Amino acid sequence: MITVQTDLGGNVARAQYVLVPSHEFSFPAALHEARELLSRDWDHLEPDPYMADGGKYRFRRYGLYRLSASAGHLTHVPDASFYQSIEVNPLNGGENRHFAPLAADTVSNPFLRELIEFDFAQLTSRQHIEDDWLIGVHQIRITATTGVQGNPTPEGIHRDDENYTSQHLVARHNIGGGINYFYGSGPEPTSRPQAVWKQESYFDSYYFDRSLWHSVSPITAGDGDGYRDVILIDFVELPEAH
Ligand SMILES: [Fe+2]
Repeated sequence: MITVQTDLGGNVARAQYVLVPSHEFSFPAALHEARELLSRDWDHLEPDPYMADGGKYRFRRYGLYRLSASAGHLTHVPDASFYQSIEVNPLNGGENRHFAPLAADTVSNPFLRELIEFDFAQLTSRQHIEDDWLIGVHQIRITATTGVQGNPTPEGIHRDDENYTSQHLVARHNIGGGINYFYGSGPEPTSRPQAVWKQESYFDSYYFDRSLWHSVSPITAGDGDGYRDVILIDFVELPEAH
């Protein structure tokens, strides 16, 4: 079982987000190899064809899961597309985006499954779960080369549309920038960031709800190519079925 020293759900309920450095997690030895294998998936992502700014610096894969609250189990939903409204993502929203699916090895990776269930349990620890949830898994690599930066959040300061989102750093290689900025959860973002955090290690993570304003600064490469790899998991509560 994955464990963490922080009350993630309590912090998100109280402050709408929480930053969790990797050393606060413990991972079971039995999943060590699967956790290492998962990180290698990022070498096999596909270009994101939906970049309205013409950028060629984003690579990704996407998978959708359904969590049945009554049965308590997680099912992978094949061939799912990803939708964000224009309001949430003025740059790339407003259409169904069909990203490359998660690789079969990724879907069957026991660490990924454990991570999804862990994040869900943590984020919803303060709430009574009756409804089913849709859970999106995004593997994303942002690249930069000498003189050409990559932008993790081309839409700028924004909020996400899902009830909850978790973000785990997988790798940073040969880059500067890629700093996380958090701007509160009021009707408008604060004029100055309330928190600034640079994730450095595999599994430096943050968790937040849909009210949190956030952005990530562009990445620049040193000599040669650089990249920043993250896994984003988003959690959407479905309306109660009658
Ligand atoms: Fe976001």
